[in-house]
Amino acid sequence: MSKKICIAIDGHSSTGKSTVAKQLAKKFNYIYVDTGAMYRAVTFFAMKNKCFNENNLNESCLGSKLDEIHIEFKQENSSRLGEVYLNGENVEAFIRSMEVSNKVSQVAKLEEVRKKLVEIQQQMGKKKGIVMDGRDIGTVVFPDAELKLFMTASAHIRAKRRFNEIKINQPEVSFDEVLANVKERDEIDSNRRHSPLKMADDAIKIDNSNLSEDEQLKKIVQLVQEKID
Ligand code: DC
Repeated sequence: MSKKICIAIDGHSSTGKSTVAKQLAKKFNYIYVDTGAMYRAVTFFAMKNKCFNENNLNESCLGSKLDEIHIEFKQENSSRLGEVYLNGENVEAFIRSMEVSNKVSQVAKLEEVRKKLVEIQQQMGKKKGIVMDGRDIGTVVFPDAELKLFMTASAHIRAKRRFNEIKINQPEVSFDEVLANVKERDEIDSNRRHSPLKMADDAIKIDNSNLSEDEQLKKIVQLVQEKID
């Protein structure tokens, strides 16, 4: 029988981390955890609880309410691709908006928020057989993960992918706005004090600017096979 491992996928926003992670979870029958969805859910909570004044987060407002936040993933049907629940409510439909995207980096840079979410993530990975994507999975959450991938692509290509996704539901959003958001998040995520986005020393870098989804999957599946056989 093949061994169950932990697969950590980090990288810049819109590099297709979640697409690969879901494909791997399906192929190897692993649990998939999208940690970005957890930071987005906390951001949505902060918005609902009026901890934002326009675009500015009142950190003590959110800090004082952290104990009220309960985040979990529930598997819909027989799929192992969980959806994120905030205090019992499925919030998948709300957390991908531009409004949340524009605010989430301010929430993700807070040490107390990271501490809370990292604990939940480590708990979920205890039994292995997990593929988790985010920014600090290989460096902080699972420094001992058997396979670490770091995904990247040019900002322009990433913005184009994100724009194509967003324009279906938010036709008013322009490409330039999406590009600016991608660049701004790169800047904040890479330069924040706590758990900045950086490649783990033992991660394998995948630049998919010029790779098709199929080529990429084939390459990564092979990397997983080498670890589990
Ligand atoms: O992967 P995403 O774009 O949905 O993530 C949303 C934000 O959350 C992103 O700006 C960075 C942050 N994030 C993080 O700081 N650490 C993680 N493990 C996952 C996401």
